[in-house]
Amino acid sequence: ACLDDAACALELIHTYSLIHDDLPAMDDDELRRGIPTCHIAFNEATAILAGDALQSLAFEILSRHSETPLPTPQQRLNMVHLLAQGSGAAGMVGGQALDLSAEGQSIPLSALQTLHAKKTGALIRASILMPAQCVSINWQQQQALEKFTHNIGLAFQIQDDILDEEGTSVEMGKPQGSDRKHNKSTYPALIGLKQAKVMAQELLQQALHALIPFGDAALPLKQLSQFITSRRT
Ligand code: IPE
Ligand code: MG
Ligand code: MG
Ligand code: MG
Repeated sequence: ACLDDAACALELIHTYSLIHDDLPAMDDDELRRGIPTCHIAFNEATAILAGDALQSLAFEILSRHSETPLPTPQQRLNMVHLLAQGSGAAGMVGGQALDLSAEGQSIPLSALQTLHAKKTGALIRASILMPAQCVSINWQQQQALEKFTHNIGLAFQIQDDILDEEGTSVEMGKPQGSDRKHNKSTYPALIGLKQAKVMAQELLQQALHALIPFGDAALPLKQLSQFITSRRT
């Protein structure tokens, strides 16, 4: 209950990022979550403004006064900071810029890793570290969570790239083959589908390894990680 505002804020940023990601100026996609994308259902101006409004609403909710003692104002402030950091130029937005400039380019694997870490990993990092602000964790646990988010964030985007190659539009609710059509820099494009799958599994193992210090408490994160790397949606 005390983390509902954080969860809402993350979901709002995520949805804003997808509405803008689908715009003609970016990935130019017409299907999302099984229905027409915002600019198709309405128009481009509406999609731009809807994204802007969702982004503002995220910070409005996260920073609002609450009657409950938790999260404390300091915890809310820390979460605002993490979300701004993860979604802004150093994170998701920066990654989206790299993604667009890498279209039709052959970039080194290290550059692709940075691109993925920013466009997807940064918000996943925020989703893990925001709630962690609200419990007391020690430095080692903080480091373990950083390692977990780094590995699972990259695994998430590699699986997303794999599904663009071999998923189905029906299962994913978004167009299959969009990356290839736009000559995107992806893991399958750079290292091949087979190697991309190997890498996703390796990252999953590293992510699970990072959770060991948390014992049974990390079971939900473990299950989530397994879902991320085996999903068809
Ligand atoms: C988008 O990456 C990441 C963000 C919206 C920040 P993709 O362009 O690969 O996402 P999909 O495949 O359209 O869902
Ligand atoms: Mg994109
Ligand atoms: Mg896209
Ligand atoms: Mg994709």
